[in-house]
Amino acid sequence: MNWKRKDLLGLEELSREEIVAILDTAASFKEVSTREIKKVPALRGKTVVNLFYEPSTRTRVSFEVAAKRLSADVINVAIETSSVRKGETLIDTGRNIEALKADVIVMRHSSSGAAAILAKKVNANVVNAGDGWHEHPTQALLDMFTLKEKTGEIKGLKVCIIGDIAHSRVARSNIWGLTKLGAEVIVCAPRMLIPPEIEKMGVKVSSNADKAIRGVDAVNVLRMQFERDEKTAFPQRLEYYKNFGITKERLHKAGGNIIVMHPGPINRGVEISSEVADGPNSVILEQVTNGIAVRMAVLFLVAGGEKNRT
Ligand code: CP
Repeated sequence: MNWKRKDLLGLEELSREEIVAILDTAASFKEVSTREIKKVPALRGKTVVNLFYEPSTRTRVSFEVAAKRLSADVINVAIETSSVRKGETLIDTGRNIEALKADVIVMRHSSSGAAAILAKKVNANVVNAGDGWHEHPTQALLDMFTLKEKTGEIKGLKVCIIGDIAHSRVARSNIWGLTKLGAEVIVCAPRMLIPPEIEKMGVKVSSNADKAIRGVDAVNVLRMQFERDEKTAFPQRLEYYKNFGITKERLHKAGGNIIVMHPGPINRGVEISSEVADGPNSVILEQVTNGIAVRMAVLFLVAGGEKNRT
């Protein structure tokens, strides 16, 4: 398909065809990382700026690697030592980065909608690397890419997303993406961590982990976000682990042959046991690797790299 969007802000706004186009483009890029010289000239001459207002390991490094694989120049803005600390607004920062000739701005921000606001104010392509509780589109895309790689097709799969659904941009993006591609999605969490009316997104809801994961093809385990400001509303870690933690015993009871995913970072012994995280069902590190190809595809499509591709 002919990609038309300037920005990638979320999966809610994408059609099924656009999601498939990103996954297919990612599949064609995966091989680049296996070459001795891991580079194609697709974005040569373009500048990608990583603007991360929140901490990140996987997403920031993955975007940097992806941009470099496409031969783009990459600048990482260190927010702590930037003029953001002097009170510069998001829009002023974005416009100044654009004035410094950025072609693509990859942004993570704690406020939902921040990427959309910036996208309206700059001509540069904006890629949302996670905005508040709203969306984390490239995480969901790499999750779906990994699932497709493991199973052949997303359509007809049964996927349980378990954990802190209420605070999770990963959950929202996965729900939009998986349902558009024809998967059945069950969300599972203690009631306090399930947002009201989530059923309207086309998912089933459960607060019983054993029932929710029985017979599923994959379980996507979300991190308990203890750094958020509502600690008192959270169940105790041990209580959570007992009732919702993905352990070998719980997986075995549910059917055993279940793909285990996690976007990271992991709280071992809280939402998942080390035995499962590092065990044969886990595809967690494969997800991280696949993030490079998926982010290459996203940068390539939004920045219009077709003419330089080899
Ligand atoms: N999955 C994810 O977004 O991880 P980081 O916060 O390390 O980027």
